[in-house]
Amino acid sequence: MPTTRGYAAGMAEAGWDAERYAEAFSFIPERGRELVAWLDPRPGERILDLGCGTGALTAAIAAAGAQAEGVDQDAAMIALARREHPGVPFRQADGQRLRVAGPLDAVFSNAALHWMPDQDAVISGVAAALRPGGRFVVEMGGRRNVAAIVAPLRAALEREGVPVARQPHPWVFPSPAEQAARLEAHGLELRRLSAFDRATPLEGGEHGMRDWLRMFAGAFLAAAPAGRAEALIAAVEDATRPQLFDGERWVADYVRLRFVAVRVASGAGAGA
Ligand code: BEZ
Repeated sequence: MPTTRGYAAGMAEAGWDAERYAEAFSFIPERGRELVAWLDPRPGERILDLGCGTGALTAAIAAAGAQAEGVDQDAAMIALARREHPGVPFRQADGQRLRVAGPLDAVFSNAALHWMPDQDAVISGVAAALRPGGRFVVEMGGRRNVAAIVAPLRAALEREGVPVARQPHPWVFPSPAEQAARLEAHGLELRRLSAFDRATPLEGGEHGMRDWLRMFAGAFLAAAPAGRAEALIAAVEDATRPQLFDGERWVADYVRLRFVAVRVASGAGAGA
């Protein structure tokens, strides 16, 4: 049985299990291909893929003729991306401390922003990196994302004696209005926005929920008392089975927030 410490290993803080992610969660970049269509990359454009993970979508952007670069905070993800896509540049960087030379035509980010607690730092870094008219194209978890999983996780931790105040908050899932206000505060104006439920089948049949929890909810599992992480997983499976298991596979209650925002020229105020 993995140790409690071991459960944090799938998470951003302790480092991702990149090989396992690529093997069992390939639906994440696959689903992100629609977002590449929203980006509409053009030959020669300078585009940064923020939180590129294994680099599949960076490579798709590069294949459209753009000068794409992938950045990710995780060393194992960057190593795998370099191995899988040797012609594409990747580097390790924290999206909350973005440093980019020269203006970019676009910043793209799929399923990564919700892992970055300081959204203002991310968005101000993106705004500084974009040329006027440059676009920020994002898909991330929205308000109430995976709520049917988080509620029983919290309740099970509470039953294990972990008070709410000591429970982790590993993700940021903003409402459309919250994110729109943040973008505008940093000089980015929305051009397109969609918030929608996307029931997401998990791979692995009966094991799908526990695999998802081990990969993505390690912060919660690590907060459980020593030796109780497996009990936490079982409690979440029991609580969510009626709603999220269809007899063959688990289907997670994802809510997506997808948007295109553009950097307005500095000095261009409302109505200008
Ligand atoms: C997502 O919405 O993509 C997501 C959020 C938290 C954990 C895993 C995935």
